[in-house]
Amino acid sequence: MKFNKIAPVLLVLSVFIFLKQASAQDGIDRKVDSVLSKMTLAEKVGQMNQYNGDWEATGPVTKAVGDKLAEIKQGKVGAVLNIMGSAHTKMFQDAAMQSRLKIPLLFGQDVIHGYRITFPIPLAEASSWNPDAIERAERIAATEASASGINWTFAPMVDIARDPRWGRVMEGAGEDPYLGSLIAAARVHGFQGRSLGSIDAVMACAKHFAAYGAAIGGRDYNSVDMSLHSLWEVYLPPFKAAAEAGAATFMNSFNDLNGTPATGNTYLQREVLKKIWNFKGFVVSDWGSIGEMIPHGYAKDNYQAAEIAVKAGNDMDMESHSYIENLEKLVNDGKVSISLIDESIRRILRKKFEMGLFDDPYRFINPAREKSLLNLPASQTEARSMAQKSIVLLKNSNQLLPLSKDLKTVAVIGPLAKAKKEQKGFWSLDIEPNEDITSVIEALKKTAPKTQFVFQKGCNIDDQSRAGFADAVEAAKTADVVVMAMGEAPDMTGEAKSKANIHLPGVQEDLIKAVIATGKPVVVLLMAGRPMIFNWTADNANAILYTWWLGSQGGNAIADVLYGAYNPSGKLPITFPRTEGQIPIYYNHLNTGRPAANDKDVFYKSAYIDLPNSPRFAFGYGLSYTTFDYIDNEPTASSARIKDNGSLQISFTLKNTGKYAGEETIQLYIRQMVSQPLRPVKELKDFKKVFLQPGESRKVTFTVSRDMLYFYNDSLQYVTQPGDFQVMIGSASDDIRLKRAFELSN
Ligand code: BGC
Repeated sequence: MKFNKIAPVLLVLSVFIFLKQASAQDGIDRKVDSVLSKMTLAEKVGQMNQYNGDWEATGPVTKAVGDKLAEIKQGKVGAVLNIMGSAHTKMFQDAAMQSRLKIPLLFGQDVIHGYRITFPIPLAEASSWNPDAIERAERIAATEASASGINWTFAPMVDIARDPRWGRVMEGAGEDPYLGSLIAAARVHGFQGRSLGSIDAVMACAKHFAAYGAAIGGRDYNSVDMSLHSLWEVYLPPFKAAAEAGAATFMNSFNDLNGTPATGNTYLQREVLKKIWNFKGFVVSDWGSIGEMIPHGYAKDNYQAAEIAVKAGNDMDMESHSYIENLEKLVNDGKVSISLIDESIRRILRKKFEMGLFDDPYRFINPAREKSLLNLPASQTEARSMAQKSIVLLKNSNQLLPLSKDLKTVAVIGPLAKAKKEQKGFWSLDIEPNEDITSVIEALKKTAPKTQFVFQKGCNIDDQSRAGFADAVEAAKTADVVVMAMGEAPDMTGEAKSKANIHLPGVQEDLIKAVIATGKPVVVLLMAGRPMIFNWTADNANAILYTWWLGSQGGNAIADVLYGAYNPSGKLPITFPRTEGQIPIYYNHLNTGRPAANDKDVFYKSAYIDLPNSPRFAFGYGLSYTTFDYIDNEPTASSARIKDNGSLQISFTLKNTGKYAGEETIQLYIRQMVSQPLRPVKELKDFKKVFLQPGESRKVTFTVSRDMLYFYNDSLQYVTQPGDFQVMIGSASDDIRLKRAFELSN
C-alpha cells in the first residue's frame, strides 16, 4: 500500500534528477565544444601533454622549471604532476592563465595512502575488509590534497596481485577480484566525494590498466601473458568496479599484455574501457610509457609511438614528450585523424569543466583552506582507527596478548622499534614532520606508564652484523615479555622494488631465534609492504602481529592492539607462501585432474614432493583475542535450489566464546562443482563483519543469489550455468565452518 503511494513520487523525482544531470552534461558538452572550436591544433596537442614538476619522482626531471612555465604560457601543457601546495600550484596556474585560451591546468599527484596524514599502505587497509573505513580514509586524503591545490590523484591502484615478489603488491588490495572490486569502488567514492566539482573532491585514476600485477616472475614492468578468460575473470573486475563507481580517469600500464604494450593496446582502451564499459573520462599514460614502446620493440621511434598510443585510445601523455613533439606532424602528415585528437580533448576538457576549473582555475588553490584542513585531530583519529583495523594477528599462543599494563619490564628489541617516518612506507609524501610520528617504543611507554621498557636494536634491517645480539639477549633476560619490531625497510616494496628473496631480511630471524632461546615470551611485530617469509618465527614465536606499514598513527595503533584497547580484526587479503618456490599461490585456483587431498598426498598428485601445497597463511586468515563459534542450527536442506532470479538464505548463529569483545569477518565462498570452462575451487562472494560481546550470540543470514554465480565463459559472455554448487562459510579461506549444497536451475 505504502509503496504504491510513494512509487509515482519516486518515479517523478528520479526522472527529474536524471533530466537535471543530463541537461548539466549537455551544458558541459556545449561549453567543451565552444572551447574546442577556438583551439589550434598545437593547443589541442598541448592539452594532451603532461609534465612532471621539479623534483624527481619515478623518472628523471626532463626540463627546467623555467622552460616548463614558458611552455605552459604557450598553451603546450594540459596537466602537471608532482607540484604540491598552494604557493607552488599557484605559480603554475598563473602561467596557464597567461596562455591564449587560459585553459586551466590539472594538478596530479600520487596521493596513494594519505596526503599530509599518512594512512596505512593500501594492502594494509585491504586487511581491514572494511570498504566504508577505506572510503573515509580516502575522503580525508582528498580533503587534504584538494586544499593544497591538487585536483587529481593517481589512485586507486586496483591491480590484482598474486605474486608477493612484485614490489607494488603494497599498493593494491591483494589477490581477490571481489574484495578488490569493493575496495576499488570505495576508494573512488572516497576520492571523488559527493561529486566531481565539490571543493573537497579530487579526480580518481584507476591504474594500471591492465594486468600490471601479473608481471612474469613478479619483476616490475615485465611482460604479462594470460588468457583473455583470466583477464576478464580475475584482473578486470576491480577496473570495471572503478569505472562503474565513476572514476574520472584511468592510467594504462608499463607491461605488455600478450605481446601488445598496454599503452598501445586498442583492445583494452578503446574496446573494453571506452566501448564496452562506456567510460567517459580520459586515459593518461603511465610515466613515459608511450616512449617506452620503443625499448619494448613495438615502435621504431617517438613519432610511431605517439601514433600507436593515440590510435589505441591513450588521451594524455605523461612525460614521454611523444605527443607534444609528434602529434601535430602526425595529423599534418595524414597519419592521425583530427577527430581522434578532438575526442581526447573533449574527454580532457569535460573533466576540467566538471571540476569547476573553468569557473575558477584557482578554486583548489587556497592557502586559508590549506591551513585549516590539513592534519585535523579528527583525521588523525580516523588514521589511528584505520591503522588498528589493518593489523592482522597471525598467532597468539596461550593468549599471550593482550599484554597487561602491570608488567614490570618489557624488552623492546629490533631495528624498527624506534622507526618513525619508516612507518609511512613507500608512496608516502614527505609533508609530515618526523617528530609528529610516534614510534612503537614511544607509544608503548605512553600506554603502560608503570612498565619499564628496555630497548636494544639487536641488528640492522638488512646486513649481516650480529654485533648487537648479545645486548639484545641480555635485555630479553631482564624482561617479563619481549616485543620485537622487525621487518623490511620501507623502500623494499613499491615501484621497481621487486625481490626474488622475500624472507625477513638480513639476520633478523637469527636475532629472533637468539631472543626466543632465552625462554621469555616473545611477541613479534612484522612491518612490511608485502607478505614476507618467516617460517621459523611462525613456528616458534608466541605471538605475531603483521602490521604492514601503518602510516602516521602506526606506533599508537600497535600499542592499542598490544594492550587490547583494540582487539585485532584484520584478515589477510593475500596468501602468504611458505617459500618463494610456491609463488604464484592463491586461494581461488582451479582444480587439476589430480588434486592432492592434503599436504601429504603427493603420489602422482598435483603437488610438490619437497613442500606442502598449503600456504603458510591463507587468504582471509586472521585471529582475534577472542574466539567465535559458528553454530549450525539449520542442517542442510537437500533440495536447496535457486530458480530464475530467486535466491537462497543461509543462516547460522555466531557466538563469541572468548573473554573479549571482538569482531569476526565471516566469509562466504562459492564453488560451482561442474562447469565448462572450469570454475575455481572457491571464490569469495560476500562477507559480513559482526561485533560481539563475550558470550553474545547473533543469528547471521547470508543471501545467495543468482548474480553471485555469473562468470565469463569461453566466448567472454557473462553467464550462469545451471548445476550444482557449494556454499562455504568460514573464518578464512582454509577455515570453512559450514557448507551447503544447492542447485541452480533455469
Ligand atoms: C607509476 C605510476 C605513477 C606515476 C607518477 C609511475 O612510475 O607507475 O603509478 O602514478 O609514476 O608518479
